[in-house]
Amino acid sequence: MGQPRPVTPVGILTETLLRVRDRLDAGETDVRAELDRAYALAAGLDPYVARCTSPESPALAQLAARTAAHDWSVRPDGGVFLEQEMLSGHVEGQALQLLVHATRARQVLEIGMFTGYSALAMAEALPADGRVVACELDAEVAAFAQECFDASPDGSKIEVRVGPALATLASLAGTPFDLIFLDADKAGYVDYLAAILDTGLLAPHGVLCVDNTLLQGEPYASPEPTVNGRAVAAFNQALADDPRVAQVLLPVRDGLTLVRLLP
Ligand SMILES: C[S@@+](CC[C@H](N)C(=O)[O-])C[C@H]1O[C@@H](n2cnc3c(N)ncnc32)[C@H](O)[C@@H]1O
Repeated sequence: MGQPRPVTPVGILTETLLRVRDRLDAGETDVRAELDRAYALAAGLDPYVARCTSPESPALAQLAARTAAHDWSVRPDGGVFLEQEMLSGHVEGQALQLLVHATRARQVLEIGMFTGYSALAMAEALPADGRVVACELDAEVAAFAQECFDASPDGSKIEVRVGPALATLASLAGTPFDLIFLDADKAGYVDYLAAILDTGLLAPHGVLCVDNTLLQGEPYASPEPTVNGRAVAAFNQALADDPRVAQVLLPVRDGLTLVRLLP
């Protein structure tokens, strides 16, 4: 029995790159066709995923456009580092909306709001009496998000809590949420997980979604991971070691881990 053949885009990309490497090692130089194939597999993936995903609402498109147009390099003294790339975006927003529907969520918690794309995406999918509690450290970006919420028919479902998320989580202890989206500072992920699991923030049937769990490949492919890479690797390990939960890491965008409580 031979090795199973690769049957996924990333598997075929890997095999193609390995062949290119072996041929270069053997002194061959006409690897152009194989490199083109590797490039097409990699470059086409995200656009194709986006094309096959339902479109975002006009309010979300406008929020994304406003975020992209803003100059985030100009920050008040002591302000948190922010950049437009923090916004989760179309595909992840649609994934979160689907999860709101699938879990029949009414109470949603977001940890790390930025300009509010994911908070508004989830709010749009909630029934009229649903609410999103959105935690954000930076007052300036929270005000930016609030302006976007005010321009949307679903924005009134979002309650913004400005301050360190751990303090907000402590004030919410014992309130069960049906869906939690964790997307704040990576260094805090292990502590946020402990707060969520130790203080009853996730409803028994609830789903915790954690963003950036692939952290640009650092946890598995970087010989010298950054502080964030190490923090995400430690979080992924803490989750794998926790007997209270079951989880799956989906390679959506920069990695989206879905977690549920075990009975
Ligand atoms: C990746 S962005 C969130 C992106 C957002 N969920 C979206 O989809 O557009 C992370 C956000 O977490 C915020 N943040 C960082 N540390 C925080 C803390 N200790 N408490 C609350 N928010 C924090 C940052 O200010 C930033 O706006």
